[in-house]
Amino acid sequence: MAKFLVQKSGPLNGEVVISGSKNAVLPIMAATLLTEEKSIIKDVPALRDVDVMCDLLKSLGAEVNKKLDENTVEVVPSGELKFEAPFDLVKMMRASILVLGALLLRTGRALIHLPGGCAIGERPIELHLKGLKALGAEIDPAQLDKGIVDAKAGKLKGSTIYLDFPSVGATEVIIMAACRAEGTTILENAAQEPEIVDLANFLNKMGAKIKGAGTDTVKIEGVEKLHGVEHHVIPDRIEAGTFMVSAAITRGRILVKNMLPDHLKAVIAKLRECGVVVEVTDEGVIVDGSVNKIVSTDVKTLPYPGFPTDMQSPFMALLTVADGPSIVIETVFENRFMHVAEFNRMGANIKTEGKAAIIPGGKQLKGAPVVATDLRAGAAVVLAGLVAEGTTEVSQIYHIDRGYENFVEKLKNLGANILRIDD
Ligand code: UD1
Repeated sequence: MAKFLVQKSGPLNGEVVISGSKNAVLPIMAATLLTEEKSIIKDVPALRDVDVMCDLLKSLGAEVNKKLDENTVEVVPSGELKFEAPFDLVKMMRASILVLGALLLRTGRALIHLPGGCAIGERPIELHLKGLKALGAEIDPAQLDKGIVDAKAGKLKGSTIYLDFPSVGATEVIIMAACRAEGTTILENAAQEPEIVDLANFLNKMGAKIKGAGTDTVKIEGVEKLHGVEHHVIPDRIEAGTFMVSAAITRGRILVKNMLPDHLKAVIAKLRECGVVVEVTDEGVIVDGSVNKIVSTDVKTLPYPGFPTDMQSPFMALLTVADGPSIVIETVFENRFMHVAEFNRMGANIKTEGKAAIIPGGKQLKGAPVVATDLRAGAAVVLAGLVAEGTTEVSQIYHIDRGYENFVEKLKNLGANILRIDD
């Protein structure tokens, strides 16, 4: 199995350029199916999840071309599309369900075998389905009991939909379905993540009429037809946040280029509370962990604009070494403390109680064999490894490959002592 070997590295210094956003590009790629015309997406990160989405679009009948350069994807969904998403792709990536709305609009049917719960929780999709039903789709209840979404629709019709929780995926699927439905859809308690704004910008360029993306109420006036466009994906705020923490934890100084600080207000605020100097300049964001003592702070994850759940584990790595105790409360996913056992193997001595993790802080971590239990937890144990005595051996790194482009190279450029060993 491929693994990373991470050694204590001293302060990371230098510049890093942030790649395009994984969570923005995946729904945008799904949305390319909403027209028969060619779309060109730029600043696409070279990631395993993107490869899976390319394979999914191909399996549905679209032509997908990645030859132009490694960060550009061209999708031509001009032929007749298939309505069934292959299970072997869906089980590799839950975001495959993002094609639900587009398939319904293009083929009148969407058949997707749902994967089971994943490490960080059950991740149900009842909100996606509630929205599609409100727009007029029929979902076979007997199939759903077997874990299969079999949705059929003639013409979708606009509706008013309230989400019980601002689910990112449900908001994206409903926006995509509504933009070619008949009439107006009002989506209330919508998720407000920047990736939703990027999707709406992409769809509006295609000819959709979406207003309010990025607020809790999105209004979508259905249009007959959408057309192909070219689009640059926004920078990945979670990758940016991870590199900001790498400067803080190693007491280094990094210029983070191609990041949008407005997307990371909560993370920047928490880093500053810990004593990290964060300065926004024209060139990028300077993150300096060398100026002050790094002290503890409490963190509670929330839907955007709150502190992102995807930054919870990387930030916890910092809190294990910060001076003083911290409490981290995870409110978005019900089981997102798998990394605690890994940090504890390194001597962090964290205790969990329901949604809370209590971190004593002030530890000198020790290298150990650890597991990347999910994508962000994988990055988090690498960060911990950078300040741990000895060698940290990280296995199951395919999780990290899902979401961090050139992670090892970028860290090495900053002075990290990290080595990838492939099978
Ligand atoms: C997206 C992100 C993921 C991030 C998450 C929360 C992508 C590809 N992934 O995932 O990186 O961690 O947002 O910011 O963009 N829920 C329900 N019922 C539903 C849908 C969701 O109860 O029908 C719950 C989930 O179980 C979870 C919470 O809502 O506890 C958040 O899920 P959601 O916002 O849907 O996350 P994803 O879109 O799956």
